[in-house]
Amino acid sequence: MNTYVIANWKSNKTVSDARAWFQNFAEHFSKTSLDGKQLVLCPSFTTLQFCHDTIAANDFPIKLGVQDISPFKDGSYTGAVAANQIREFAHYVIIGHSERRQNFSETDEQIKEKMHRAKEAELITILCVQSDTTPIPAESDIIAYEPVEAIGTGNPDSAENTQKMLSTLKSKYPNKQYIYGGSINKDTVKEFLQIDVVDGFLVGSASLDATMFVNLLSQW
Ligand code: PGA
Repeated sequence: MNTYVIANWKSNKTVSDARAWFQNFAEHFSKTSLDGKQLVLCPSFTTLQFCHDTIAANDFPIKLGVQDISPFKDGSYTGAVAANQIREFAHYVIIGHSERRQNFSETDEQIKEKMHRAKEAELITILCVQSDTTPIPAESDIIAYEPVEAIGTGNPDSAENTQKMLSTLKSKYPNKQYIYGGSINKDTVKEFLQIDVVDGFLVGSASLDATMFVNLLSQW
């Protein structure tokens, strides 16, 4: 099975930053360190087309995802980006990240709607859950366990706790894939690689610098 490595750039990078990232990535990555890994890059909407065209032109082994999706179909919803618009460029979508729940007051009800829209457009859905009580809509394909206190702090959750959490979720929803997110980098990843329920990682800060990101990918 592939290990997912999902890079979430969050609200970072202009097109020229993204160009520099790909140049750096091209210089450092090796096909062998990517063996068995499915890389998914989730940039902002403003750089999505640029990333799409760059990946295609260079044949980089990277799929694209987005960080959010409209809960509505296309139409009169100012500021929202609908599933069919995303589908032109990307195959994956992150839904319910804790930063959206906290900063944009996103509710479980809206998350359910976003899931429906994503599936109508045949996107692969990555649902972020913060605990084993977070509701999990049936359409979620990949479940990302991302404890809030581990995000961007340099302090990941313990491997033991992650194993417990993911095993509990897996016993309730066996046919999904499970990844961990929260302060993953080339050093912290090692402990998590020992956990057999972890099918990959959601990586924020350590994906912003291509050299750091490639270093992380070379750890297994
Ligand atoms: P981080 O972000 O890697 O910067 O901690 C992870 C996440 O947002 O899930």
